Amino acid sequence: MIDIHCHMLPGVDDGPRTMDESLAMARMAVEDGIRGVLCTPHWHPMIWPNEREHIALAVDQFREYLQAERIPLEVWAGSELSLDSELDAGLEGGRLGTLNGGPWVLLELPGAVPPPGIDDYLWHFNQRGYKVVLAHPERYDYVQRDPARLYSWVGMGVAVQITASSLLGRLGPETAALCRLLLEHRLVHFVASDSHGTRSRRPLLGKALQAAAEIVGEADARRLVDAHPLSVLTGKPLDLRDYAPMELARKKRSWFSFFRR
Ligand SMILES: [Fe+2]
Repeated sequence: MIDIHCHMLPGVDDGPRTMDESLAMARMAVEDGIRGVLCTPHWHPMIWPNEREHIALAVDQFREYLQAERIPLEVWAGSELSLDSELDAGLEGGRLGTLNGGPWVLLELPGAVPPPGIDDYLWHFNQRGYKVVLAHPERYDYVQRDPARLYSWVGMGVAVQITASSLLGRLGPETAALCRLLLEHRLVHFVASDSHGTRSRRPLLGKALQAAAEIVGEADARRLVDAHPLSVLTGKPLDLRDYAPMELARKKRSWFSFFRR
């Protein structure tokens, strides 16, 4: 398995504070059957100003420690980019990190309110040659209220990453049910750990793979942690010929629109 969303670098963001903690996370991941990790520290211009070169150096240093400790985990550089007015210029200028330096970008949207014009933004982003992996939309309020929103985004070429612990119910039964719904409708392309440490938000995918297999079958579940992450690492498009998303019915009209009739 390959984990495409993971906060495992020491002292870079809100992940582990020390190299020992990072190495403990790496051992835990290997024990779980993970063979490689895309290290994706947060980037936000005001809160986490982690730019590409800084992350690349931290990954190189971490790799040296992994080799010295004989921990068989491959690591690559990435970044979890917050939607921000500086995002486009940062990517164009090479200051910000894509996933393993390729066209795929791990994008986090604000959770409470859909950003104005987000549909157009995602469409143009795709047109410029980037490929979006949308980070954990099951946590966004507006996706919880209207999951069908994801159908149109996936239709534009956006790929969807859900978090292993969400699927396993750690964020409550409603979020787990939404993950199930999205899996059933083939609106999920990746399951990743989004891990931050060894106590909570841990670097584990094995149980989530089992849970996904019960919903979509073993072969398709494996793709979410194996073939699809490999496409990201190698900068290729996802091979989705037999993985067409099924449209979610729009929810019934809201009370507001009901009263406006
Ligand atoms: Fe994250």
